[in-house]
Formats: sequence, C-alpha cells, structure tokens
Amino acid sequence: MSILIFGYQVIILIVAFLFGQFPFFWNYEKKILRRLGILPAKQVRIAIFASGKGSNAGKIIEYFDKHLTVNVSLIVCNKPGAGVLNIAEQAGIKSLVIDKETFKKAGEFSQILKDQGITHIVLAGFLWKIPAGLIAAYQDKILNIHPALLPKFGGKGMFGEHVHAAVLAAGDKQSGITIHLVDEQYDHGKTIFQTAIDIHPDETPDSLAARIHVLEHEHFPAVIESWVS
Ligand code: GRF
Repeated sequence: MSILIFGYQVIILIVAFLFGQFPFFWNYEKKILRRLGILPAKQVRIAIFASGKGSNAGKIIEYFDKHLTVNVSLIVCNKPGAGVLNIAEQAGIKSLVIDKETFKKAGEFSQILKDQGITHIVLAGFLWKIPAGLIAAYQDKILNIHPALLPKFGGKGMFGEHVHAAVLAAGDKQSGITIHLVDEQYDHGKTIFQTAIDIHPDETPDSLAARIHVLEHEHFPAVIESWVS
C-alpha cells in the first residue's frame, strides 16, 4: 500500500515536471512529507516589530512559550526605551533597535533578518511604514494587526487613539480587529482574520481601546499560529 502511495506521489511530480508545474507540486509534496514526518518540520522563526508598550508582543511570546509551534526569535523596535524592549529582555529574546536609515535600506535590513533565520514578520503596533524592498523580501510573510474593522478607519495617521476616536465620531455600532497581510499601502493587504464587538452607548476612545486590546490578546497569537502553518 505504502509503495502505491509513494509511487503515486512520484508520478504526480513527473507529470508536473512535464507540464512545467514542478515547483507548485513539489511545494505541496513537501508539506505532505513534513506532515508524515519524512522531512523535518520547517522551523518558523518570527520577528515581532513593535514601537510601544508591546502588550501584544508579550501575549505572543507567552503563547508560543507554551505551544512551541513558532520560535519568537527577535524583537525589532524603532523607539529606544519602549516597553516592548523590557518585555523582550525579561523573556530572554534578542532585540534590535533600528534607525530609519538602516531600515529604509531594505536590502541591508532584510539581510540582517535573513542572517538570523527569520522566516516571518509580525507587526504588533509598529508605526513605521514597511519599505517595498522588505515586503518583496518577505512576500506574504508579514502580518499586521489593526485595531478596527478595515477597510474602514485605516491608512496613514490611523493608529492608537486616532482610530478609536474616528470610530466613535462616525457613530459606528461596532468596532473590532483586523489581522492582515502587509502590502505597500497602509492597512491594505489581504485580510486573514476579523472579529467585532458592539460599541457601548457610553463608550469613550479609552474604553474602546481597552476592549479592543483584550480582543487582540485573545486572538492574535492563535491567528499567527494558523497563518504560519
Ligand atoms: C494595538 O492596538 C495594535 O492593534 C496597534 O497598535 C497597538 C499596539 O499595542 N497596531 P501594544 O503595544 O501591543 O500594547
């Protein structure tokens, strides 16, 4: 039986080769072989980019300390002294404080990440725009979390308090979180996950921010886990 199954996979690859589709089918086969334990599991090493407090980064680290499906390998931060750097230190995770010049030289910066074996990037409250070169180097491998229901309330300047104030000013009945792939426009790539909550009649930007944070902490780590797999 197993010879038949194995033979079938080989035939698929030969036919795929003849029709010029080998890379697509080989990737598919590799996934099957990894699941069967024939090829070693690919190690997923993420870098979390954050500019502030880092509560999401903290939850992600905590989650993967237990689940071990992802290795949180690096914290990248653009603000010396940001809370996320303490979180990294306490967790014993390497951190990197970047300056704009190095960051903009995407070739150089993506090489720094590749040298550390980073396979995926997670933006958790990172305020700089990701340069096109880095997006190209990590095509469909960069995930962002946004504290509203995109495509509404996204784009340049829509971060933190500004988002929640805009949602309330618009009189929306719901807000929520969007987890999406990163492309060259702010808050624009393909949505991977969205969930909503009802806005309370006496809601303020602060109370909404706190409730949205709870939602982020609850969902972000597991969404990352299913995205990388
Ligand atoms: C989160 O609300 C996230 O959606 C947004 O920035 C905030 C970061 O919060 N992109 P924290 O630093 O993880 O606490």
